[in-house]
Amino acid sequence: MIKLNNKLIALGASIVASALLTTSAFAAAPSKTEAAPAGIYKATKNALDGGVTYKREKGSYTAYRVNEQSTKGINFGRAPTPNELKAWDADIMPDGTGLPEGSGTAEEGSELYDKDCAVCHGEFGAGGKGYPTLTGGSIESLKNQRTCPGKDAPNRTIGSYWPQASTLIWYIRDAMPYAHPKSYTPNQMYAMTAYLLAENGVKIDGEDITELNKDNFKKIVMPNRDGFYPNIDGPKGVENVKAFYKDPKNFGAITGTRCMTNCGKEPVAKIANEITAVVPPYTTARDLPKEDASKGAASSPAAKAYEKSCAVCHKTDAMGAPAVGAKAVWAKAMEKGMDKVNHNAINGIGGMPPKGGAMNLSDDEVKDIVKYMVESSK
Ligand code: HEC
Ligand code: HEC
Repeated sequence: MIKLNNKLIALGASIVASALLTTSAFAAAPSKTEAAPAGIYKATKNALDGGVTYKREKGSYTAYRVNEQSTKGINFGRAPTPNELKAWDADIMPDGTGLPEGSGTAEEGSELYDKDCAVCHGEFGAGGKGYPTLTGGSIESLKNQRTCPGKDAPNRTIGSYWPQASTLIWYIRDAMPYAHPKSYTPNQMYAMTAYLLAENGVKIDGEDITELNKDNFKKIVMPNRDGFYPNIDGPKGVENVKAFYKDPKNFGAITGTRCMTNCGKEPVAKIANEITAVVPPYTTARDLPKEDASKGAASSPAAKAYEKSCAVCHKTDAMGAPAVGAKAVWAKAMEKGMDKVNHNAINGIGGMPPKGGAMNLSDDEVKDIVKYMVESSK
């Protein structure tokens, strides 16, 4: 888990950094969106970022555009295309704004969950595999918000912690399943949300949730909706805290006014350790496993089993798993020797569940898949 956590922290830090950078870059950019350089991308429905597919070269692929820029110094990139903006400007709000047309049942969600989510989040969302727990905990656990994490601290599951269901359906749409976010249809989004809410014991008008659609979604009241104020001592503790945070003078700028441009001589915040180079670049090309039709490699049983049970984590390095095709990473792993690597694949290690969670695979089948992964990464 350490590995994964570091990864997530690094990811978070880079997102914050790039958010800051892009904001300033856009402020300086001309108001009209820059025209796309010819041949670099074309709009497409199935593209990862909702609007754009990037040129693939020499069997290389990338979720986002291959970074051809110098890694010395910071490059601000280009202004987003209207398509890209549209793809991300799609919030689903607590009042129901942004909810898609569609519907789905908890039963359909349950099947989807077993297929797409259980491998990381555990059966019925119970966790235990090192990834966030999605169910369990009770609203009672929130009474003790000031306790350090441990026995008395809140259980941060959907039912006991999340104040709005809109966050859940939005999160599922934009971030999950981890390896292919934004892949769910509106009906699947409703089905998955219905299932997870039902598993958390959330009800609508006192009735169990069996089906969700745009209309009954707005009636959901999450158990913890009003629980987001610290449990401050004293009879007026909660009111005092609310009043405190209503007044911007109490936090942030001393003058109480927000400043976005020409904010005077004193910078609002100063970057302590300015990043001057990004090495290695965030986006790198990687060779796909070679497709050799004559050998039927892509359709071998091991290749198929890999796609079914392992690719969800091993296709990219986003999960902290050695990505298939990343030569250096696999060469490093193989320094332990094939026996040890096979042992780890079968019994699990760190964020790698035993047999990748596919317990139906025999030890020999796992070994064949590992061989395929190793061969594809040379
Ligand atoms: C490959 C592993 C993986 C798979 C598969 C996966 N998730 Fe996740 N999920 C994660 C990780 C890792 C996080 C934490 C992400 C973070 O905090 O940045 C997460 C976070 C979440 C959260 C937020 C939890 C919280 O308390 O903040 C929800 C909800 C969620 N996933 C739902 C789903 C659903 C629904 C599916 C199936 C459609 C799914 N996940 C599939 C790894 C996975
Ligand atoms: C839920 C995500 C996930 C799934 C599914 C998964 N892996 Fe992994 N795998 C990981 C992570 C994370 C690591 C890195 C573990 C570490 O080094 O701490 C890893 C590492 C490995 C390694 C390297 C072990 C070593 O000794 O360095 C092998 C081999 C491997 N996985 C094989 C497989 C196979 C085969 C499958 C499918 C049957 C599979 N994995 C499915 C997450 C996953």
